[in-house]
Amino acid sequence: MHNDVKEVLFSAEELEKRVRELGKQITAEYQGKELLVIGVLKGANVFLADLIRHIELPLEIDFIAAASYGSSTESSGVVRLLKDLDYPIENRHVLLVEDLIDTGLTLHYLAENLKARQPASFQICTLLDKPERRKVSMEVDYKGFDIPDEFIVGYGIDFNQKYRNLSYIATLKPEVYA
Ligand code: PRP
Repeated sequence: MHNDVKEVLFSAEELEKRVRELGKQITAEYQGKELLVIGVLKGANVFLADLIRHIELPLEIDFIAAASYGSSTESSGVVRLLKDLDYPIENRHVLLVEDLIDTGLTLHYLAENLKARQPASFQICTLLDKPERRKVSMEVDYKGFDIPDEFIVGYGIDFNQKYRNLSYIATLKPEVYA
């Protein structure tokens, strides 16, 4: 275990199992369709890479990046696009993949932006959700786990851009981010 880690919330094995289940569920629900899986950079990158390998359907991937102004731990609510998609999504079956929904502001902005481009369908898959922190209500179609309002890292999720490479999801020792 990494020296800065306080507690492991989800081990690599637990993540693998849940991601496999989500992949199966998505495979079943999109039978006969071709999917466009859109990852929200950078956090969702690791989750997306594992998830698509459990989706047994023809699919393509694309990426979008957004950021909200504010400190590293508190979103201001003003979201801006850092990187747009490479291709149009009109008439495509879009599945937007996030690592974490916190206030919901990033996802709300991205969902409105993408739905305006008239995809054939639009659904959201998040690995983690902190429902207690929500500032704007967001409906999620596929979810890995609900988590309490704790600061977490690993499996793509960072603190100051570090710890994304941990194979598990963990809380950090308070002295690390104090
Ligand atoms: C995280 C996460 C979501 C967003 C959720 O990304 O990946 O995109 O915050 O927060 P919200 O629900 O309060 O809007 P972050 O901005 O940390 O960027 P990163 O994915 O590049 O780490």
